[in-house]
Amino acid sequence: MFYEPRKQDPKADMGLKHNPWKALVQPRPIGWISTLSANGKANLAPYSYYNAVCEDPPIVMFSSSDKTKDTARNILETGEFVVNVVTDRLLQPMVETSRAVPHGVDEFDLAGLTKRPSRLVKPYGVGESPVHLECKLFKTIDIPSTDPESDYILILGEVIGIEIDDSIIHDGRVDFISVGRLGYQDYSVTASKQSVVLKKRDI
Ligand SMILES: Cc1cc2nc3c(=O)[nH]c(=O)nc-3n(C[C@H](O)[C@H](O)[C@H](O)COP(=O)(O)O)c2cc1C
Repeated sequence: MFYEPRKQDPKADMGLKHNPWKALVQPRPIGWISTLSANGKANLAPYSYYNAVCEDPPIVMFSSSDKTKDTARNILETGEFVVNVVTDRLLQPMVETSRAVPHGVDEFDLAGLTKRPSRLVKPYGVGESPVHLECKLFKTIDIPSTDPESDYILILGEVIGIEIDDSIIHDGRVDFISVGRLGYQDYSVTASKQSVVLKKRDI
């Protein structure tokens, strides 16, 4: 099977049940992003077009399919956000916070999650998450779409504060069970790890 995304529809033209795109790059990390609106209402939602993109300074990025989604709107208004790490136990509440609810509805309350004050930014972190990345808006990039309904925006943030719960530090290393997005309604839960050490050799 081969198709050109700008010219063909994988459902109508290729006979697939769903657009496969989100299942082709997997697993994708999930940025569970908390923000505050300009008038101080808390908001929380998952974004899996998300990743860490550099180290010094640490920068994360995510994209929203619409600038009017609360997360993008709040960040454009306030310049701050927190990324909360999703662990296996938080999978269900994380999905719960993806509901399309009116602006101003607090998804922490909707999913029964605790608001944890951050140190350097105003948005709360998710108390149940063991890692909070406190971010300041660095840059945005508009991404033109062929879909008139979409108004994509890529948001980059500098991580200015990193909070790691002591309970996940073992032997000087961070250790938690992470969750990734596999496309469709499927998620990966990291059940095992393999360490691979590059051995020295003469080339
Ligand atoms: C696991 C998961 C990942 C998602 N990733 C994205 C994403 O990368 N970009 C996006 O625009 N929406 C994404 N969504 C949908 C948003 O979470 C959803 O539209 C949500 O209602 C947005 O909330 P907000 O308006 O409070 O920001 C994702 C949903 C789920 C369940």
